[in-house]
Amino acid sequence: MASANAIAQIGVTGLAVMGSNIARNFARNGYTVALHNRSVAKTDALLAAHGDEGQFVRTETIEEFLGALEKPRRVLIMVKAGEATDAVIEELAAAMEPGDIIIDGGNALYTDTIRREAAMAARGLNFVGAGISGGEEGALNGPAIMPGGPKESYESLGPLLESVAAKVDGVPCCTHIGPDGSGHFVKMVHNGIEYADMQLIGEAYHLLRDALGSSAGQIAEVFTEWNSGELESYLVEITAQVLQQVDATTGEPLVDVIVDAAEQKGTGRWTVKSALDLGIPVTGIAEAVFARALSGSRAQRKAAQGLAAGTLAEKPTDAKQFTEDIRRALYASKIVAYAQGFDQIAAGSAEYDWDLHPGDMATIWRGGCIIRARFLNRIKEAYEQDPALPSLILAPYFRQAIEEAVDSWRRVVSTAVQLGIPVPAFASSLAYYDALRAERLPAALTQGQRDFFGAHTYERVDADGKFHTLWSGDRTEVRAD
Ligand code: 6PG
Repeated sequence: MASANAIAQIGVTGLAVMGSNIARNFARNGYTVALHNRSVAKTDALLAAHGDEGQFVRTETIEEFLGALEKPRRVLIMVKAGEATDAVIEELAAAMEPGDIIIDGGNALYTDTIRREAAMAARGLNFVGAGISGGEEGALNGPAIMPGGPKESYESLGPLLESVAAKVDGVPCCTHIGPDGSGHFVKMVHNGIEYADMQLIGEAYHLLRDALGSSAGQIAEVFTEWNSGELESYLVEITAQVLQQVDATTGEPLVDVIVDAAEQKGTGRWTVKSALDLGIPVTGIAEAVFARALSGSRAQRKAAQGLAAGTLAEKPTDAKQFTEDIRRALYASKIVAYAQGFDQIAAGSAEYDWDLHPGDMATIWRGGCIIRARFLNRIKEAYEQDPALPSLILAPYFRQAIEEAVDSWRRVVSTAVQLGIPVPAFASSLAYYDALRAERLPAALTQGQRDFFGAHTYERVDADGKFHTLWSGDRTEVRAD
């Protein structure tokens, strides 16, 4: 390799918007950045538009690209998740040397990252799956970064990533998450929470629009006001901005001319699939994923228009009170979504032996990422006080926040049901809360049924061990262990 030219501290391959922006972010922070893209036109476009922002090295081939990098080489891949990533990794790995670091900054499936990390480790290379959140703007000005992979690689990589990450109170929104696929796992759960948060905001908007008859502009004002309180967050802030936007063609609010069919690239679905495997009820996230799917079933929805609504209730008369009820329901449901996401992180950590620290996530999600929110400071504090919290909901601050919101939450869900307005995430979050705090669930009956038809046995409240009733015999009980 041409070591005389090895002047770049980091290389970025894959120069679509996210890749270009993060490359610019590194350059703006004083690093020399080697640039590579399959078609060199993208590299040249980046250099033409932003080449004066810092030190870039233009390269055309992988050999040139790797030759431009200081050792151990650090290469950030910003290509489409899936096969494209595997192809680029293979090309790089074939030409790299032991100790070099490949960082996958895309939204990769964490099991792919586990596989890739093991394959690269066997070849003496370090592979770091790093979740990067914050969209295009975050990539340029400071994202939240969730790097997994070997701890040793973080020693060489961490300072670079931390310097380009967002900062909150001077603390970088980047830390070593844990081994192998843990960075992408945590980013996946981040996206699941993002889905839940967006769905909850959508349900709040739906209620303000259809239960109170408010216009997009009026609802924008409500969200703007909410953003000055405990709901302060990036997603609430941009909701107000989207609702304020007027369509240039029709003069109508833009939100009223956008087709109401939500798309998804897959990270929310991955979160739910993984939660199913881990046995963690991420009900808010699941409802959000299904709500997007339902909205996208356009032919079915069209055919179903005009189905009976039954007798609907009158709309709420006290708009101010109902708006405040919605705000509280949103806050309580949001706490549930985060609690469920943190449960999934704990379960993933236990399953893969990652030793993840939930407080780390709360700290680095405070800035840069899509789910950044004021209340993450509270989550951080909750885990500082008790790193082994059985559920976020049980932390004193959140327990009290829900206690203050629960009456409103019930009113919102029951009003929505009576008005025929679907609120799957509000309703399932409340059901989750009620189930969690219930003294006795109907699961005892489920166990009885399972024992009846399959001799699956049950435990008793008053004795240890497993039992079975001879359902098709004399119905006496026998021990089954
Ligand atoms: C982020 C976002 C980012 C992307 C989502 C969108 O954290 O910066 O989550 O990763 O915008 O993948 O996902 P959907 O297309 O599935 O909504």
